[in-house]
Amino acid sequence: MHMKPTETLTPDQIGQMRDEYILPSTMKYFPMNIVKGEMQFVYDDKGNKYLDGFSAVVTISVGHCHPEVTNPTIEQMKNLQHMTTLYYHPNLVRYAEKLATVMPGGLKVSFFTNSGCEANELAALLAKNYTKQTEFVALRHSFHGRTLMAMTMTGQSKWRHSLPYVFGVTHISPGYCYRCPFGLKYPSCNVACARELEDVIKYNTSGKIAAFIAEPIQGFGGVIDPPKEYFEITYDIVKKYGGVFISDEVQTGYGRTGDKWWGIEHWGVKPDMITMAKGMGNGIPLGGVTCTKEIAESMREKVHFNTYGGNPVSMAAGLAVVECIERNNYMHNAKVQGDRLAAGFDKLVRDHKIVGEHRGKGLMRGLEIVKDKESKEVAPQHVQRAMELCKDRGLLIGRGGMAANTIRIKPPLCITNADSDFIIKTLDEVFTIIEKS
Ligand SMILES: Cc1ncc(COP(=O)(O)O)c(C=O)c1O
Repeated sequence: MHMKPTETLTPDQIGQMRDEYILPSTMKYFPMNIVKGEMQFVYDDKGNKYLDGFSAVVTISVGHCHPEVTNPTIEQMKNLQHMTTLYYHPNLVRYAEKLATVMPGGLKVSFFTNSGCEANELAALLAKNYTKQTEFVALRHSFHGRTLMAMTMTGQSKWRHSLPYVFGVTHISPGYCYRCPFGLKYPSCNVACARELEDVIKYNTSGKIAAFIAEPIQGFGGVIDPPKEYFEITYDIVKKYGGVFISDEVQTGYGRTGDKWWGIEHWGVKPDMITMAKGMGNGIPLGGVTCTKEIAESMREKVHFNTYGGNPVSMAAGLAVVECIERNNYMHNAKVQGDRLAAGFDKLVRDHKIVGEHRGKGLMRGLEIVKDKESKEVAPQHVQRAMELCKDRGLLIGRGGMAANTIRIKPPLCITNADSDFIIKTLDEVFTIIEKS
């Protein structure tokens, strides 16, 4: 008899087996079996239904098992699963051609990987080859992955190990106005955090850089979105010192920020490279880099290969995601629902002393949770409790930030008015309970 593995093991059994057989650093939010997904909802093994307010860590862009993505992916799987890019297959070029149509102008040439960290590793390599420089500037509070270069560029000690890191990577402050490291106030600060880049290049590097890498809105960092001038200023400095601008869109890509394909487009800056993953495959492992033709040319002399990168199945899924977003106008829905959430979240900030600030764009939103507004003391214990109380009410949410004190709300792009209202109402109820206890 064919049995689904999840039906044969209880959460306790899975927990014990994870302890025995899985690396102990594997994170978990809750010991619960999630066995089914359907658009914006998931179900546990007892049949309980949850609104997935965190999209399985921002990987489910259009909806769990969205038939417009699942069906063409399964069809491809039945035909041919893999032959590597050593042979031709139409899916690779069809997807790359489609991607070029939704990229900011000039970004045309792609290479596909299986994950975001591989995409960032490749982007760094491309930047080095193109500029013939080796030094990089990244942002504090950033997250770029867990391979060596990606971890080196990551700006949070909790995501770094004690390693001999890649030489030549420096970090500057993101536009984190709620906790400005300079003790200044926007706009009288003259966006000092962005201008710091010039000094860092002058004093901490050889005076030339290969690249500057940034998430337009920091994800794991706690949904930090900089002031409107931040990326214009940093872009100009990057160009002045000969570097390329890499936009890490692993979380902000694919329409999540509302009405635009890429987060960086909200800042009016055209990057030289975009790296992507997560929502790109709607659950299928898929990542990639898209860059200008000139940057791509710097790789002509060298062979580059990724065993599963560009395989027909993930290419079918990737293409289906882009088409699905277009067909259903999900990018605009991200804006509409994002605005609805924003209005509700602004009210939560006004009504609750533990909600310090609301940040974000579209369906990438964060609520920074504090002991009270006056002290701004971080309160990760409240976030942990809020996650549990939300789960008990049928809502899954995420957390982030250096102190793990930011609630992250990033639901699939297919959510409705009723879902947005449910998120706001549930959080309101949960914050009231926490404040009373
Ligand atoms: C902004 C950002 N970049 C890169 C990564 C690394 O992606 P992956 O886990 O697919 O390697 C992540 C997530 O983990 C991310 O959030």
